[in-house]
Formats: sequence, structure tokens, C-alpha cells
Amino acid sequence: MAEAHQPLLRVENLTVRYGALTALNEMSWQVAGGEILGIIGPNGAGKSSCFAAVTHAVPRDGHVWLDGAEVTGLPTYQLARLGLRRTFQQNAFFGELTLLENAMAAMLREHSTSLTRSIALPWQESRTRRNAEAAAADLLSTFGIANDDHGKRPGDIAYGTQRLLSVVLAYGSGARALLIDEPAAGTGGADMQRLADLLVNLRKRGVAVVVIEHHMDLIMTIADRIVVIDQGRKLAEGAPADIQRNEAVLEAYLGRAA
Ligand SMILES: Nc1ncnc2c1ncn2[C@@H]1O[C@H](COP(=O)(O)OP(=O)(O)O)[C@@H](O)[C@H]1O
Ligand SMILES: [Mg+2]
Repeated sequence: MAEAHQPLLRVENLTVRYGALTALNEMSWQVAGGEILGIIGPNGAGKSSCFAAVTHAVPRDGHVWLDGAEVTGLPTYQLARLGLRRTFQQNAFFGELTLLENAMAAMLREHSTSLTRSIALPWQESRTRRNAEAAAADLLSTFGIANDDHGKRPGDIAYGTQRLLSVVLAYGSGARALLIDEPAAGTGGADMQRLADLLVNLRKRGVAVVVIEHHMDLIMTIADRIVVIDQGRKLAEGAPADIQRNEAVLEAYLGRAA
């Protein structure tokens, strides 16, 4: 799937230290638009720290490029505005808002200018709000969240749909690079298939998708390429079929458990 053009997101030598612990050690990888990069590795390997490093949510060494421009020094919110966003292992949304309102908030988040305009010109507000509602409903429906759920609060919908919602809200009005942390955690069966469909849909839209996932059947099916992290370092990188028979990878997963 990956085109031979320049990567949309490239990270080089990312290192994260928590006190004396080096959680991520000189990590480098890249991902193109319209590509799904899978990241796997044992618990505590440094996968989530890698996402925190890319989005500048923790102090780190190394470099990050988005669309060919170095963005290493930019704060998290500016990266988000440029279309580089992440989801978290735990669900994160406004519990007191409906799904539709959550989606509106997510879409307005990156459009502070239009929000400012609607506040400055109150007579335009209702029209702006109607447009925002329609766009938010469209966003939810497009990614597989049924109309029936739009008026509910996140706590009142099925857990599998909550996992979908986290990804959809991170995408918002259109992310360019999405870092998705264990989307299928705690799900299975039909919910996992809906998540797979969502990730493939994002790839089709040209998003650079990076996904951490423990469900091997899911990641091996949808990822174009896989990076294996172990003890903060890159242990292997390659096509899913190659990773599945890589000796070092099998050792990291199976040898240690034995
Ligand atoms: N905020 C933190 N402070 C101190 N240590 C942390 C922090 N976050 C993660 N760690 C440690 O860093 C290592 C990597 O954690 P993490 O990136 O969450 O791994 P993974 O997502 O692969 O399970 C682990 O040893 C973890 O305990
Ligand atoms: Mg993690």
C-alpha cells in the first residue's frame, strides 16, 4: 500500500527517560499517508511512551518530521492542529456531553478561528451550530457509529462503540497522522472487525496510521508494516509475514514467557 513518496510522519532517534529508566531508546521509524504501521511489543516495552514522545507529551531527545517539515520543538496542541494526533489506551471523552456534542467539540478543536467568529457574531451562531451538528453527525455515521447512539452519553453506549468513538474523535475534522494506542483492548469478535474496518477506512482516506495493538490476528491482517519494540529498542521491522517468523520476535514473546 505504501507509495514510494516521502513519509508523512518520520521520527528519528526518539529517546524517553523517566528518571533513571530509559523507556524508549533511539527509536526511528516512518509512515506514509495511506499506510498502516503496526507497533507491537511486550508490556512495558515503551510503545505508549513512543506515542507520548512523538506528540511531545513528555520530554524527549530526537527528531520528528511531519510532511517533510521538522516539528520537533512544537508543543502537543500545535502538532494536533497540524493533524498529528493520538488516542490513549483508556477511553477519553467528555462524559457529560452526548456523542454528537463530543464530535462537535472534536471538530471545533482545530478550528478556533471559526469558533471565534461564531462567538463574535451571535446572529450567525444558530446557523453555524446547525452546520456543526450536521458535520458531526456525518463524522460519526461515516465511521460506523449509528444515529441511534448520537444523542447518548459515552457511558451509555456499548464498550466496543466507545473504542470506535475514541478513534473517530481523534480524527476529528481530518487528521493527517493518527497514533492509535490499543484500540481493540478489551474487545473481540464483531467489535474488533468494526475497528479493523475503521482503520482501513482511515488508510483509504490517506491518513498515516500508526497503531499499537496486542491482538495479533488484527494487527497482522491490517498492518502494511510492523515495528517490534522490546525494552525501548527496535527489535525488528518488516512485513507482517516476516515478523511472524522472525526468531528474535518469537524469542521476545515466547522465550520470556516460557
Ligand atoms: N510516567 C511514567 N513515569 C515513570 N515510568 C513510566 C511512566 N510511563 C511509563 N513508564 C515506564 O516506562 C516503561 C515503558 O512503559 P510504556 O511506554 O507504557 O510501555 P508499553 O506501552 O509498551 O506497555 C515501563 O517500564 C513503564 O513502567
Ligand atoms: Mg502501552
